[in-house]
Amino acid sequence: MNVEALSRVQFAVVALFHFLFVPLTLGLSVLTAYMETRYAVSGEESFLRAAKYWGRLFLINFAVGVVTGITLEFQFGMNWARYSKFVGDIFGAPLAIEATVAFFLESTMIGLWMFGWTRLSKGLHALVIWLVAFASTLSAVWILLANGWMQHPVGYAVQGSHAVLTSFRAVLGNVYGWSKIFHTLSAAYTLASFFVMGVSAFHLIRKTETDLFKKTFRIGATFALVCSVLVIVAGDFQGRVVADYQPTKLAAMEAQWTTEKSAPFYVIEFPNPKSESNSARALKIPKGLSLLAYHDPDATVKGLEDFPSSDLPPVLVVFTAFRLMVGLGFLFVLLALVAVILSYGGTLERNRWFLYVMPYAIILPYVACELGWVVAEIGRQPWIVYGLLKTANAASTAITPGDVIASLIGFIAIYSSLAVADLFLLTKYAKKIPA
Ligand code: HEM
Repeated sequence: MNVEALSRVQFAVVALFHFLFVPLTLGLSVLTAYMETRYAVSGEESFLRAAKYWGRLFLINFAVGVVTGITLEFQFGMNWARYSKFVGDIFGAPLAIEATVAFFLESTMIGLWMFGWTRLSKGLHALVIWLVAFASTLSAVWILLANGWMQHPVGYAVQGSHAVLTSFRAVLGNVYGWSKIFHTLSAAYTLASFFVMGVSAFHLIRKTETDLFKKTFRIGATFALVCSVLVIVAGDFQGRVVADYQPTKLAAMEAQWTTEKSAPFYVIEFPNPKSESNSARALKIPKGLSLLAYHDPDATVKGLEDFPSSDLPPVLVVFTAFRLMVGLGFLFVLLALVAVILSYGGTLERNRWFLYVMPYAIILPYVACELGWVVAEIGRQPWIVYGLLKTANAASTAITPGDVIASLIGFIAIYSSLAVADLFLLTKYAKKIPA
């Protein structure tokens, strides 16, 4: 393997590991803030205990996971020097703002929250955790705007051998970036809600602190229902944006080999890249794909045949990841709906089968999020910046395959240890009874 291929593997490994930590941090900060606000408003002691309990799990995940993103930024310089040279003037700005503004605000507020329980008033302490949640969200916004620029570059001009920023406002208002922000945030809140439901269900099975965990299960269920519906709404919007700006990704996501007006959608189909066709097609929805992609039943969907083969991403990977992500999205709405009905109807504890399902369901939103990144990043190939710079022209020339292999082995070893440590600590403290 050459430097480019190895660097891609390295970036994918680190990014996928990093995203194991990010969504829970984003979502649990909001859920903890909500529980603490309930305490600040009602003075009900159980919400204070709940906020401390879920807040501790949030802190563990933040502390273990925070470092995992930093290496990605170093990789831009080390493995992707030609990319950094070409677009660094633009791409660097959102990343720098994220590190200097959002991340510092988040860390400072986390410190205040941890040590402020006896020093701040109830209301002020609750405000601090909302600021933590706000700062985490702000971090995500800057990173996703940066990624949105790679997906759909705007507000730039190419001068000589590099791109320069001509409109920061265009980068800030990039519709691709905002569609990612809405989709990723609602996905993160869904993941954290399933986490809260799963852990609460575990305690309800053991009959420990039943009243408290019935309350947190209900909060998790309500958030999960709202957010899982929002994920689909945001995902549908994002699909439209992909259709407009990355037609090759759309064609790969849908395994659309030929250009078709009023293109149908098949719920079941299997792409065969060798024959460039789909087999075992079933459950046809006439005009469905045109409607889904363009919100217009008569729209023409461009097929893979219309693009040079050198500009296409690997169809099977992108198609499979997309279908699984979407399927999981609908499953989350179903599970959240059952959870809401049972917990508001007062029959949750009698339906023990459901309590046994929910701790295992925690893993599913993690899978969906990782699949989402596979769609977004592999679907953009062979471009590193869509339509502007190819990945093959972006890797560093000053490093050797041996350098990348050595650091890749190091990353896998360290990141696997961090993931195991996170899992171990989260499980250990999740099993504890709230103080
Ligand atoms: C009907 C359901 C869904 C639709 C239509 C949908 C649509 C999409 C699309 C089109 C992308 C690629 C965007 C790009 O190229 O930049 C994407 C990415 C992604 N999806 Fe989904 N998705 C759905 C469900 C979910 C679920 C259930 C989750 C997780 C709980 C999820 C998490 C993600 C993540 C983390 C990404 C990568 C970041 C981003 O591009 O926003 N998606 N989704």
